[in-house]
Amino acid sequence: MRELGITRVRIGEFAWSKIEPDPGRFDWAWLDEAMDVLHEAGLGIILGTPTATPPKWLIDQNPSILPVGRDGRVRGFGSRRHYCFRSPAYLRETERIVTALAERYGSHPGLVAWQTDNEYGCHDTTRCWCDTCRSEFRTWLKDRYETVDALNDAWWTTFWSQTYRTFGEVELPEQAVTETNPSHQLDYRRFASDGVVAYNALQVRILKAHSDAPVVHNSMMLFGDYDHVDLADDLDAIAFDNYPIGQLEESPFSLDVKEQFLRTGHPDLVTLSHDLYRGLKDQPHWIMEQQPGQVNWAPNNALPAAGAVRLWTLQGFAHGAEMVSWFRYRAAVGAQETNHAGLLRHDGTPDVAYHEAKRVAGELAAPEHRDVHTAIRSTGDATDRPRVALLVDFEDLWATDIQPHASAFNYWGQLFGFYAPLRGLDVPVDLVPKKHAGREDEPHARSLEPYDLVIAPAMQLVDEDVAQRLDRYVKAGGRLLLGPRSGARTVTGRAQEAAPGPLRDLVGARVTRVDGLRPDVQRSITMLNGNESLTYRVWADLLEVEGDGVALAHYDDPAYQGATAYVKRSHGSGEARMLGASLELEAMTTLLEAWLGELGIPTRRLPDGLRRSGAWWLNFTSEAHTIDGVTIPALEAVPVS
Ligand code: GAL
Ligand code: ZN
Repeated sequence: MRELGITRVRIGEFAWSKIEPDPGRFDWAWLDEAMDVLHEAGLGIILGTPTATPPKWLIDQNPSILPVGRDGRVRGFGSRRHYCFRSPAYLRETERIVTALAERYGSHPGLVAWQTDNEYGCHDTTRCWCDTCRSEFRTWLKDRYETVDALNDAWWTTFWSQTYRTFGEVELPEQAVTETNPSHQLDYRRFASDGVVAYNALQVRILKAHSDAPVVHNSMMLFGDYDHVDLADDLDAIAFDNYPIGQLEESPFSLDVKEQFLRTGHPDLVTLSHDLYRGLKDQPHWIMEQQPGQVNWAPNNALPAAGAVRLWTLQGFAHGAEMVSWFRYRAAVGAQETNHAGLLRHDGTPDVAYHEAKRVAGELAAPEHRDVHTAIRSTGDATDRPRVALLVDFEDLWATDIQPHASAFNYWGQLFGFYAPLRGLDVPVDLVPKKHAGREDEPHARSLEPYDLVIAPAMQLVDEDVAQRLDRYVKAGGRLLLGPRSGARTVTGRAQEAAPGPLRDLVGARVTRVDGLRPDVQRSITMLNGNESLTYRVWADLLEVEGDGVALAHYDDPAYQGATAYVKRSHGSGEARMLGASLELEAMTTLLEAWLGELGIPTRRLPDGLRRSGAWWLNFTSEAHTIDGVTIPALEAVPVS
């Protein structure tokens, strides 16, 4: 590992049955040795708590640890993540094993960080339908609403005779004849997310009591089942696991795009994760697991292109990560992940990725590249400081999931609809958590002041609080763009009288009707200035201009009877706009290019698959590209000159 240039190693994240082979009998010898060997070799150790995999004896002792699926059946032992986040027995056991580990290694000189658990929520484990969850959900609701009348009102339970007399009557939102109340579902998502966050906080508290090492968790690319903003707030750093090929394979992208990026994954999808995770804490993030070859878990598992492992690694650093760790070092010779590649093959000989990892480790060791991750920061003297921010929010994601209203309308897709065009225009982007955006003097507050343009792509849930923060930003000279479905709902999931709710006055328009379309249906809007026609699919909010609002585009579909598609309202040097249609990428590029131009933000159209991350050009295509006099060969990366 040293020879390759590796400096950190993560171990132990599923090792409970090795650490504690029988109840109360700990076998530390092998782990002591591993810690010492790695440390003596000069490698820093990231030690995982083993709680993603409670051993068989523990489950047999306490079957109540097992989670219950939405079908009401217990999810059994035999894989991983087989625990309920709220099981009292599991919380006790977690405390016991994490304490034992923290006591043993908390001050080991080789320890550089802790990883809590592993990929919370993976395999659909955020929500659980067990008896404990049911009764704790009732308590959670009581804390939130205080009176059952308030809950009935928030959920509008008169509908379909759902009125509750006590909190004790509320069931988990599943196993009903058809769709359960969306507000009920939304609160259950919040409750489940809170369970994950509290579970992690328990581990953080124990680790901190015994150790000064930073505490990190490895999340999953664009995964939305729990609130990553809340989780990240409790951690010293946030990591994600980067599997570009598997991600594209599992995504709803067209077969053409899947073919185009078969062996590299989609570069904009990958940087969206980098920007998301860097943005959660506004500090360098980590890649805890970087795909080194083919994975085992996608429906099809293609080999990466020659050069892809180096590109992904450089992309991570250049996009703000301060650590990239490959998963795994050597291919496993048995069990579930036998078909997953490592830097070494099953027989221990170097695989292709080994050589690419070595090359990139050597490149990044050079003094001029050592701080490459600092080029893209929202603050300080970053050379690539983003001037455009996208707001991100997991409650908005849940609202979208619960009632998509158009089969292809999904949260990440809507975000991507703004993000990818910006990337294609070579515009660096920050993702800013909506719940922290524009706050002042609070922990985790994130100023919007550094941004010339803030985009809220799919911000369905809007209350007075967020409306005021955005209002303040615009009136101080900022520019805001609301995407389709903005402000359609209150935070409990009820309809606003008219979208965008409390932001209506700011943008000078209201939504009168909405259109949810099959993804094969394409329609257009026409810009009033220049008559350009821009296409959209899936969603249209039909706008009606109000007060000082000014229409910028109208819809062409006669069914909409001349409705406005795009509107703006000026506020001194600030401006708020709303775009009702989910424009296609090309159309969105045109629209954003025009506005960015007016704002003096430089843009240029990059070829598909050629992207700049901070100080590096990365070419994910199979042909060379020349830009600014620099030639970037196929599947290569070169520093920006
Ligand atoms: C991750 C997980 C690893 C391993 C890997 C395979 O989701 O954290 O333990 O399963 O995927 O690609
Ligand atoms: Zn449960």
